[in-house]
Amino acid sequence: DNKDKILCIADLERAASKKLPITAREFYNSGSTEQITVNENSTAYAKYRVRPRVLVDVSKADPSTTCLGRKVSFPLGVSPAGLQGMAHPDGEVATSRACARKGVNMGISSFSNYSIKDVRKAGLDIGPISHAIQLYTLKNRELELSIIREAEAQGCTAIFLTADSPVLGVRYNEWRNDFRTPKGLSFPILKRTSEMIQKQTHDDQFMSFNDDAHNWARDIPWLRSVTKMEIWIKGILTAEDTLKAIEMGCDGVLVSNHGGRQLDGVPATLDALPECVAAANGRIRIHVDGGVRSGTDIFKALALGAEYVWVGRPVIWALAYNGEQGVDVMLNTLYSEFKRCMQLTGCNSIKDITKACLGLVRSDGPLARL
Ligand code: FNR
Repeated sequence: DNKDKILCIADLERAASKKLPITAREFYNSGSTEQITVNENSTAYAKYRVRPRVLVDVSKADPSTTCLGRKVSFPLGVSPAGLQGMAHPDGEVATSRACARKGVNMGISSFSNYSIKDVRKAGLDIGPISHAIQLYTLKNRELELSIIREAEAQGCTAIFLTADSPVLGVRYNEWRNDFRTPKGLSFPILKRTSEMIQKQTHDDQFMSFNDDAHNWARDIPWLRSVTKMEIWIKGILTAEDTLKAIEMGCDGVLVSNHGGRQLDGVPATLDALPECVAAANGRIRIHVDGGVRSGTDIFKALALGAEYVWVGRPVIWALAYNGEQGVDVMLNTLYSEFKRCMQLTGCNSIKDITKACLGLVRSDGPLARL
């Protein structure tokens, strides 16, 4: 039935909403407190218009680029969002297979419902793929080190150190719905069986792990001393912290506000991106996630200086809609939207996507050049 055909990410969100029980749906979709940041992450994209160049031969337009040491089909990857097993029983394993099939990379959340080994193997069975292991600064250093060693053993390329979560953001839905991880799901990376999780309170489930004493001086040199994997800081929103990441010798920063799930009222990532790009001045890699819902959004983020873009919720909706095939649909949709956007703006390669491709909408006059 054509009416139900999935044509865009909004269609996937609607299809997923019909399938997910309210507790799961709100857990996935919500941001913290007033929902300002989660909403602004997406609406920030609407402030920009694309400035197309016409009559350009775009018959050989090539959206491919590189990310985490590997050629990728286009500049998009799947962010490390946890609990994918609640959206579909195949969870992160399905995501990994679909990412490998499309030729893009994936972040593995510490709260993955499958082990690093299972997720890596599932992808590699299909084709080459780079994985980043998402890490929190844990109170339990032994556990943190064992995750690092396992990620190395399984061939992960990078650590995404999530820096925005010394404590958990306030998400009202989780309290109102008394959100609990469903029975049968475990967190193998954190060595928590389903039975152990069922005995914990809501707060314990997520925050018994994280160390609110984490800091640049203690944690980054330590990470550097124990691993050769790339070290990326996930959750940067300012020029100051971009400079700090450079000073600490990190390999990259992921401009992110955790999909609006940590502190509400921080800027949309697209609005934080330019100051981070300016501060970096080419000295550190810059990726971004948050609110990306179309190929044109990816294009805009690149035009503002990001090298690569990641998506969280779209993969959750895709899994809920139809597991691995759903993730195929999601990635294929964003790929064709992005390639078409390149062609319709006269861009033949990723390096053609520059500031000149965008203008900022003004309420009181013509488009402002950047
Ligand atoms: C997340 N995110 C996240 N980040 C992280 O570093 N560790 C984690 O375990 C999780 N878990 C998680 C669960 C769910 C359900 C969501 C929606 C998000 C944040 C994620 O990596 C990413 O930053 C955002 O999802 C990006 O925003 P969008 O694309 O969801 O708008």
